[in-house]
Amino acid sequence: MWRRVAQKFSSSYAVSSKRSYQYGRIFSRLASSEASSVGGRSSYTIVDHTYDAVVVGAGGAGLRAAIGLSENGFNTACITKLFPTRSHTVAAQGGMNAALGNMTEDDWRWHMYDTVKGSDWLGDQDAIQYMCREAPKAVIELENYGLPFSRTEDGRIYQRAFGGQSLDFGKGGQAYRSACAADRTGHALLHTLYGQAMRHNTQFFVEYFALDLIMDGDGACRGVLALNMEDGTIHRFRAHSTILATGGYGRAYFSATSAHTCTGDGNGMVARAGLPLQDLEFIQFHPTGIYGAGCLITEGSRGEGGILRNGEGERFMERYAPTAKDLASRDIVCRSMTMEIREGRGVGPLKDHLYLQLNHLPPEVFKERLPGISETAAIFAGVDVTKDPIPILPTVHYNMGGIPTNHLGEVLHIKGDNPDSVVPGLMAAGEAACASVHGANRLGANSLLDIVVFGRACANRVVDLYKPGQTQKPLPNNAGEKTITWLDKLRNANGSLPTSKIRLNMQRVMQNNAAVFRTRETLEEGCRLINETWKSFEDVNIKDRSLIWNSDLIETIELENLLINACITLHSAEARKESRGAHYREDFPKREDGQWMKHSLGYWENGKVRMAYRPVHMNTLDDEVETFPPKARVY
Ligand code: FUM
Repeated sequence: MWRRVAQKFSSSYAVSSKRSYQYGRIFSRLASSEASSVGGRSSYTIVDHTYDAVVVGAGGAGLRAAIGLSENGFNTACITKLFPTRSHTVAAQGGMNAALGNMTEDDWRWHMYDTVKGSDWLGDQDAIQYMCREAPKAVIELENYGLPFSRTEDGRIYQRAFGGQSLDFGKGGQAYRSACAADRTGHALLHTLYGQAMRHNTQFFVEYFALDLIMDGDGACRGVLALNMEDGTIHRFRAHSTILATGGYGRAYFSATSAHTCTGDGNGMVARAGLPLQDLEFIQFHPTGIYGAGCLITEGSRGEGGILRNGEGERFMERYAPTAKDLASRDIVCRSMTMEIREGRGVGPLKDHLYLQLNHLPPEVFKERLPGISETAAIFAGVDVTKDPIPILPTVHYNMGGIPTNHLGEVLHIKGDNPDSVVPGLMAAGEAACASVHGANRLGANSLLDIVVFGRACANRVVDLYKPGQTQKPLPNNAGEKTITWLDKLRNANGSLPTSKIRLNMQRVMQNNAAVFRTRETLEEGCRLINETWKSFEDVNIKDRSLIWNSDLIETIELENLLINACITLHSAEARKESRGAHYREDFPKREDGQWMKHSLGYWENGKVRMAYRPVHMNTLDDEVETFPPKARVY
């Protein structure tokens, strides 16, 4: 399908004067970058690059990894389908947890306890220890980078209350641990990190869509294949280390706080490479998505004193979580809200949603701490938050599961009888990854923390393992060939179903069958329906055959990635016969530690899901803290 008509050496990207070993090698497969199509088979221009490391994704995790690599002299490419500051991190609102102790006394061990409890004992305790211990340093580093944090009267970083956070191992009351920049923390973070990446000369490949991993015969990752969406050229990035920071797959659902670009592309690449995805059944619903629009209203608004009310004006969370009330952890608040609606105490003509009341808060709180959601509520709900409550409903927000990694960011799979075998050359961080610090339920404001801590951990691991400019083996001769055949097939897909129709079918199945409450019937039906939806993808139709800004093709690749994630989610959920964190089964309402305190691994094999399991890490990294044994989870 592709033939080499010219070969030349040239600089395919800006070469730092300090790094003379860098070069870009262009294998022009055709003289023209315009793809031609002969007899239904197309030709593609292939451009080869060699970097020390390649980062896929330019949200908080990707940028933090890229900064750590670039500042250590590693020649780093960052491939991103969006301009970096459009990444979904920009939408994060409420903040980032760290035991800085700016509002009360605090201790990272208390934060660790809350995170283990929040995870419903599915989180790996070594990774949780690592994250919580690193958290204060991570925040101070961001402050030094220039992140404009909100301040206390005496000039320290302001920290607000968030759900599931306590002092003194749950015995000391509510913790104030979430460092924030008003309610636009993600926006401030992303722009700060992008500035740092520019400062350290990370090489960006913007509006490049990563298609597949390049794996060799020994099971090592040797780089990644990407499509330049602007001109349709195919780019092979060869690197010692490939770091996936591609975000979540919220858009497998009909209503989500996630951007439309959250399509689980890294997860799809990993699954296609024959590697597992971990704990996908654990989908976080955020209690306060705007009814109808789905936009996020930060949990920080409850941290500042906001109250959830039902149709009878009752502060119903007092009944479900007498101590933490509206600041219980998200899985519990979402289930309580759903119970209120089911039992007929919702608001509105259909009694199908609830209210978030904020109008009792002092005006300066809106001005200084919650300006963003005041605007969002006005635009998307037509509500003046100083006067009226916001109509809200639990909305899909976060994937606890993803690409399994250890606390260093290295991707794991089962090899022989080793359930923690490292995939050489492959790392992951952020929502795409599953470290697993969130286990079965993530605590609010632990996600911005996760992305910077594990983005940095990936960079540190590469620095430990390699030297800048270290020689690399040539790529396998046929590297990327299979992927180009797949791409070509999709681009010429001539079935009867538009991408949008299949996507809507998938989103409906996920919304109905992998919801807050689950049963055997809904899950078995969900597995059947999602299998059928996957099958229908064979009949997809693409109208645009070009390679120049072909959004029809890109959305179809994204749909395939979403479908793989959706299939593994439903099959993992059906298989797990217990309730834990965000996975609540009415037919199995109890947590079953004896049988189910283990991570689900879903493999994607010829369009079918195969399940396997690996143990949860109950150990800590060292004796600075003791492991927290499982117990009942009450708030
Ligand atoms: O509610 C929020 O601001 C979301 C934070 C988070 O998901 O970490």
